[in-house]
Amino acid sequence: EQKPPTVSYYVPFIGSMIEFGINPIKFIRKNQKIHGNFFTFLMFGRRMTVCVDIDGNDFVFNAKHSCVTAEDAYNSLTKPVFGEGVVYDVPNSVLMEQKRMVKAGLSIENFRAYIPIFIQEVNQYIDKHWTESEGTVDLLQSISEMIIMTASHTLLGPEIRSKLHEGVADLYHTLDSCFTPIHFLFEWLPLPSYYSSGKAHDELDRIFGTVIAERRKHTGEKHIDMLDALMESRYKNGEPLSDKHVGNMLIALLMAGQHTSAATTTWALLNLAANPDVVNEARAENEAKFGHKLGAKSFPEPSYEDVKDFVVLDNVVRETLRIRSPLIELMRKVVKPVAIPNTNYVIPAGNYIIASPIISSTDEKYYKAAEDWVPSRWNTAEKEDSMDKATTDYGFGATTTSARSPTLPFGAGRHRCIGEQFAYVQIKTILYVLLNRFDFSLDPKRGMPERNYQSMVVLPEGPVLCRYKRRAD
Ligand code: HEM
Repeated sequence: EQKPPTVSYYVPFIGSMIEFGINPIKFIRKNQKIHGNFFTFLMFGRRMTVCVDIDGNDFVFNAKHSCVTAEDAYNSLTKPVFGEGVVYDVPNSVLMEQKRMVKAGLSIENFRAYIPIFIQEVNQYIDKHWTESEGTVDLLQSISEMIIMTASHTLLGPEIRSKLHEGVADLYHTLDSCFTPIHFLFEWLPLPSYYSSGKAHDELDRIFGTVIAERRKHTGEKHIDMLDALMESRYKNGEPLSDKHVGNMLIALLMAGQHTSAATTTWALLNLAANPDVVNEARAENEAKFGHKLGAKSFPEPSYEDVKDFVVLDNVVRETLRIRSPLIELMRKVVKPVAIPNTNYVIPAGNYIIASPIISSTDEKYYKAAEDWVPSRWNTAEKEDSMDKATTDYGFGATTTSARSPTLPFGAGRHRCIGEQFAYVQIKTILYVLLNRFDFSLDPKRGMPERNYQSMVVLPEGPVLCRYKRRAD
């Protein structure tokens, strides 16, 4: 029985923080070669044990809750943003019930109602901001706004969506400023962002409270959105979520989906801009489906089934998530010493453990030309050819729910993402509208951006310039 090997470092206390912070993927790969799939490094006095490859993912995501918890790792970071009583500020059994409540707002019936809203919001944004016949835009900024509009409208409802321009968007940004690694490392520092986020949170509470009270007055009116789903939901013991907790859940959901979906959509579109052949394939598929040529104005509103069946766009999103997963470090805290199966290692209480599924999803062992963006590798027919034979029994399928798949952009186990379907429908619908209305190309000077690791969610390094050109009607 022994502890996993420790990465050597020169500066006591600070340890490997700088090298890890600059490029965590490079740091992990380098040390994986030296130490294997499990190793510990020091970061500002904290002992972080990295657990990679399929065994590492499986160990972190399926660890026993009595030994390893997410709430002890995340709550200091999320509580100032989400508020009290939700997600990591409650016992895990309560989170499991809260996730069940959220699922009611992510039903197929809801998705059917959301698709026209996604289209309306994207069209509205474009008509207002991308007005030239061709031009250059900051794609990350534009897409982020489309995501916030579409998500707010469908999750928080039309009332709050209509207040976005009256400062609600600024309140989100203020809360967001707490979501940085510095707040994880220095939770004890009286950072000014805590003060402003507290005020922003109170203000959002007030706005949500008013909308909820208004809805409670008009009980006959049915809304198909997350707000309604949460207002109607009950714990197993029959208790409803309090109005305040409904608001806090909505903030949590919005934060969970905002940068993750914005980054994914932006990377997808940048790669499409660099690969016109894939764009042509996506358009050809859609034209075959709808039976006529599609242009900037003449594209039909797809049904939920249509969006689900956009195979090329599905592959585009899946492939983008494989090489550009927005969440590359998922953390837990060890609260009781825990043995790593099939090794001699025991991780002591107090350590943090980190899963980084992007390490396996970009490993040549599992994918040929693993760093290349090749959406067609997800076509069933080609799937086996493009992957190492030894891995084909991991049960790759349309969805990656098994913790032993090398590609897990949505995690696995009890903390697995419940927003995956929402994200797919939202991102595919946005791409469908944009590809019908525009041709895209990378900005010749900027090219394909590098990754920026300074935020919790990995984003393309800005400014993310991209050229658009209006297509014929
Ligand atoms: C959890 C990724 C979109 C809500 C997670 C986790 C990952 C993830 C990796 C697991 C975290 C962990 O194990 O520590 C993503 C990606 C998204 C996305 C890549 C978009 C492309 C969304 C959306 C929503 C959402 C749109 C809400 C509508 C959640 C929730 C959890 C979660 C509630 C559960 C947290 C827990 O149980 O601890 N997501 N997510 N996500 N996500 Fe997502």
